[in-house]
Amino acid sequence: MRITVEDIARLAGVSKATVSRVINGNPTGVGEKTRERVQKIVDELNYQTNPFAKNYTPSHSKTIGLIIPDVTNPFFSELVKAIENFSSDNGYVVIFGNTNSSPEKESRYLSTFIAKKVDGIILTSSAKECLDSHHLLEKYRIPCILLDRTLPGMQYTAGVFADNQLATYRSCEMMLSHGAQKVVFLSGPMDISTAKERIEGYRAALEKYGIPFDESLIKYGTYSVESGYGAIMELEREGQRYDGVVAANDTMALGAIRALRELAYRIPEDVEVAGFDNIDYAQMCDPPLTTVQQPTIEMGRKAAQLLLDAIDGKPPKEKNVRLLPRLVIRKTTK
Ligand code: RIB
Repeated sequence: MRITVEDIARLAGVSKATVSRVINGNPTGVGEKTRERVQKIVDELNYQTNPFAKNYTPSHSKTIGLIIPDVTNPFFSELVKAIENFSSDNGYVVIFGNTNSSPEKESRYLSTFIAKKVDGIILTSSAKECLDSHHLLEKYRIPCILLDRTLPGMQYTAGVFADNQLATYRSCEMMLSHGAQKVVFLSGPMDISTAKERIEGYRAALEKYGIPFDESLIKYGTYSVESGYGAIMELEREGQRYDGVVAANDTMALGAIRALRELAYRIPEDVEVAGFDNIDYAQMCDPPLTTVQQPTIEMGRKAAQLLLDAIDGKPPKEKNVRLLPRLVIRKTTK
């Protein structure tokens, strides 16, 4: 399928007439910033420079595109490593893009990968819902594996996810079984499916123990150390008292532990803490962090395997692969 003026218009958020004026070198009435934005997308998608680009045909250069939200988070760097190892062992080169959790950057990477005619894409999305660039993947039938996070409305080849709800349920249930009465939940960004699934696991554990869901014990973070630290300080300012913290990922748990120690709470005697991911720092934390071991390497390898199979024309045996994480009990829980 050829990349059309309509595709460019949708990606640039302008009319088809504006795109035509820019392409034909007659940008009268088109603002400079708009012209630059249109031209950038036109160039990236290689629209007009190659008159023979009548169809999207992958380059078959054994190249795949990989989009990750935060390479500074050890969970993702481990995921990238697993994907790259498997792909290169099978003769593929990985072009990697870090989006800093920006849907706009995600779109730009998708457009660029399409323009570069990659053979397929692995996507860990930061978007709340499908954007135009995601629909281009569908339109040109570019194999796409969703990894770690679902994306409402996206037509994708296959997905590899962790069972976030069950894992968080088990983590919180373990804490409640020790007699914890008031457990704070540090959530990830609620636009993201892993955050939504984990808070449901927390809610289900409370229900099992007949503890009402109390919104004042929920803090919405950004999966960052800073947001975990800030959440605990905010709870302190609010005068909240609690005896457990379940964080939706390890970096927020590490930030929370730093704040709790600054506030002279004893861990786990005064407040138990549990994280999610089991990044390397979790075991080096003081005290070592109880957390959930994500099947990170298995997820990365499975996503790469599914993509390479799809590129070779082999359809996936199952659309969604959901892998079960496991609890790792250390010293931040009783
Ligand atoms: O640590 C970042 C979190 O975001 C991970 O738990 C991963 O599942 C992603 O969704």
